[in-house]
Amino acid sequence: MDKMISLKGELKEINRLAEEFEREKAEKVLEWALKEFHPRIAFASSFGAEDVVIIDMLYKINPEARVFTLDTGRLPQETYDVMDKIREIYKIKIDVYFPNNAEVERMVREHGLNLFYKSVELRKLCCEVRKVEPLKRALSNLDAWITGIRREQLYTRAKVKKIEVDFVHNGIVKVNPLADWSWEDVWKYITANKVPYNKLHDKGYPSIGCLPCTRAIKEGEDFRAGRWWWEREAHKECGLHYSFNT
Ligand code: ADX
Ligand code: SF4
Repeated sequence: MDKMISLKGELKEINRLAEEFEREKAEKVLEWALKEFHPRIAFASSFGAEDVVIIDMLYKINPEARVFTLDTGRLPQETYDVMDKIREIYKIKIDVYFPNNAEVERMVREHGLNLFYKSVELRKLCCEVRKVEPLKRALSNLDAWITGIRREQLYTRAKVKKIEVDFVHNGIVKVNPLADWSWEDVWKYITANKVPYNKLHDKGYPSIGCLPCTRAIKEGEDFRAGRWWWEREAHKECGLHYSFNT
């Protein structure tokens, strides 16, 4: 009972902070988050355009800020290239989480290497094994995490707050400093600050995930049309930010 009361109290406080920080710049949100939680906070980076912006901001606030990535084993070479470039330029350490090898071995033995094209269920199984489980491990010792999600990316993200409680991950705090940014805002920052970025962005890929599950988009297509493009019905989420059970 006592725990429930305190959880409710924390939620109220987080909601209050979310309102307070809604009008603040991304850097201010990050400054608050690092002051409050470092070193028990880390940035989950896929090294897409939003994420390199956040790395640049974090580095300027505290070069010791923690950054991790989930290497699914199926990423495009361009993503590895930008990761190493960022490591060299900013001289930061990046924690790389890999999927559990026994689980991958079991999955591909049972369903094949390209299981994601066979059905939505198998695609979600692959995302679960290669991304969702490693994320759980990465977050298990943290009190807060930072992401690059933006409201305009997808209808499932339209209501994200800059600071929220992540009920999918043990109620830790989730910080989304670019929640209200537009795609144009992202590129203005990258250009003005000369931030290294994934070269696939120059080849028609706005949203970049695993190589077999991402293609370039055509003119007029939706921002995330290139992710799991063969799926018609399923929402274009992999389970990192949106539980498959909700
Ligand atoms: S996904 O859920 O569809 O894969 P998306 O590519 O839109 O996510 O990225 C949204 C945010 O999720 C990124 O800004 C980043 O914070 C986090 N993220 C996505 N993929 C990864 C990854 N491979 N490693 C770490 N964080 C990731
Ligand atoms: Fe597997 Fe594709 Fe999901 Fe990557 S995006 S984890 S390859 S299904």
